[in-house]
Amino acid sequence: MAENKNQLLVEVDDLKTYFHLHEGTVKAVDGVSFNLYKGKTLGVIGESGCGKSVTSQSIMRLVQTPPGKIEGGHIWLYHYNEDGSVKDKVDIAALKPESKELRAIRWRDVAMIFQEPMTSMSPVHTVYDQINEAMMLHLPGITKEETRARTIELLRRVGIPQHEKMADAYSYQLSGGMRQRAMIAMALSCNPGLLIADEPTTALDVTVESQILELIRELQAEYNMGIMYISHDLAVVAEMSDDIMVMYLGQAVEKADTNEIFDNPLHPYTQALWRSIPTIDGSLERLDSIKGTIPSPYYKHSGCRFYGRCEKRIEGKCDESFPELLEVKPGHQVRCFLYE
Ligand SMILES: Nc1ncnc2c1ncn2[C@@H]1O[C@H](COP(=O)(O)OP(=O)(O)OP(=O)(O)O)[C@@H](O)[C@H]1O
Ligand SMILES: [Mg+2]
Repeated sequence: MAENKNQLLVEVDDLKTYFHLHEGTVKAVDGVSFNLYKGKTLGVIGESGCGKSVTSQSIMRLVQTPPGKIEGGHIWLYHYNEDGSVKDKVDIAALKPESKELRAIRWRDVAMIFQEPMTSMSPVHTVYDQINEAMMLHLPGITKEETRARTIELLRRVGIPQHEKMADAYSYQLSGGMRQRAMIAMALSCNPGLLIADEPTTALDVTVESQILELIRELQAEYNMGIMYISHDLAVVAEMSDDIMVMYLGQAVEKADTNEIFDNPLHPYTQALWRSIPTIDGSLERLDSIKGTIPSPYYKHSGCRFYGRCEKRIEGKCDESFPELLEVKPGHQVRCFLYE
């Protein structure tokens, strides 16, 4: 099979995921489009509440419904023939909740690792039981002996010491870093084409974090996985990603390859984010050092969503009309009237 690095795995097209709450509608994801490719990593960054997790949960169809609902758009998942030609494409957004088709996609085509493994790993089953269950479901014909051997091999691969013994441990018996590794092993158990990592190292200390990042990169090189890597941490995203999408209040405001977007950030929001990177002398400014606060998620914008906080806003324009996401240089898109 042609192991093409640029093979399209998932095409998200104008995705809209809303939450209908008592207080109003939260447009958590409001018209977001991006592509995920084999062997490549898309980094997604933006402040808390901008819709990073809801975007990834939409791809896995893990959005809490109700109150959440995919209101529009498509999430095309591509399958390929041996010769590299497209076999079929399935719109994940259109599948029935908890349908057989959807269950077949989770873990096998798209797997996810989360910030807090306790929420994704069962406390009443051993590590092996959980990995075994995923493999039994998705790898037809696999035997118990094979799932056992593969689990132990995966635990070894993700750097869990005493992997044979640890296979029979419960998740609460593992340390945070070990639990994260076990979750990565579980996510990789069915050889997924795409791995979604939603802040997988935020809860870990820095040395463990760098080991996990290294591990994810190694595994990507080995299995040629596509990765969607979500984090608030710009340094981590920069280190992990080929391309970056910056989100603000449910929309993509800028997209480009990693070098380009760091060397030449165009959106005033991206520029402000970049200024909030910790400095060499160790003083750590946070993302929320950007002037102003994020508007309430219920607020109805009449213009650019960043208007209220933007240092470069054009009165009478930015508050009155919505900027589109436009390609202003080859491969570099930005949603801002300054570049029209
Ligand atoms: N289950 C839910 N019910 C209601 N609103 C929700 C739910 N999940 C998310 N939201 C809302 O959707 C918006 C986007 O949330 P999301 O979790 O995607 O943010 P995020 O970018 O991942 O933030 P963080 O960096 O804090 O993880 C927020 O306004 C949030 O309050
Ligand atoms: Mg999140």
